[in-house]
Amino acid sequence: MASVVPLVGLTALGEKEKKQNKKEVCYCHLVQLLRATSHLLNQTYIVHWNLIGSKFYSTHLLTEDIYKEMQNGLDTVAEHIRSLNISTPFCVMDLNEAKELDPLPHDCFAQDKMISVLASNYNKLAESFSLLSEESESIGDQLTMDLAAERGRAHKKQQWLLKSNLN
Ligand SMILES: [Fe+2]
Repeated sequence: MASVVPLVGLTALGEKEKKQNKKEVCYCHLVQLLRATSHLLNQTYIVHWNLIGSKFYSTHLLTEDIYKEMQNGLDTVAEHIRSLNISTPFCVMDLNEAKELDPLPHDCFAQDKMISVLASNYNKLAESFSLLSEESESIGDQLTMDLAAERGRAHKKQQWLLKSNLN
């Protein structure tokens, strides 16, 4: 008779394993947020370069301010990950993989749609960092919690600045 292999997640975990599990979930999420930050930084460049219409100049200037802040934010998140002795993605494709973010429209004249997708993605990133803040608090990692709150606040502001450009 074939032996039954217990499925992970259905077996009763001990306290130590539960804590380890929470830690893995938290740090996987942190690395995923590095990918999402990188992806969104690239989307911000795309809007900065390609948007055409009456909102071109104001959006061009705003996205420049945002991508400069994002460049520093990306580096801060990556260096924090390394300080925890965790690797960042090695492959550029992997570094930019963020299925949780919506794609931009392939139409440079659809200015409100471009701005609205970008704003919504900044809001998603803000919410995801807020969740990371809760996860890191639950494992007692104060430094990750502070970083998550700081990045979450920055993205909440960026989504507001972008959204305020919409009619
Ligand atoms: Fe530029």
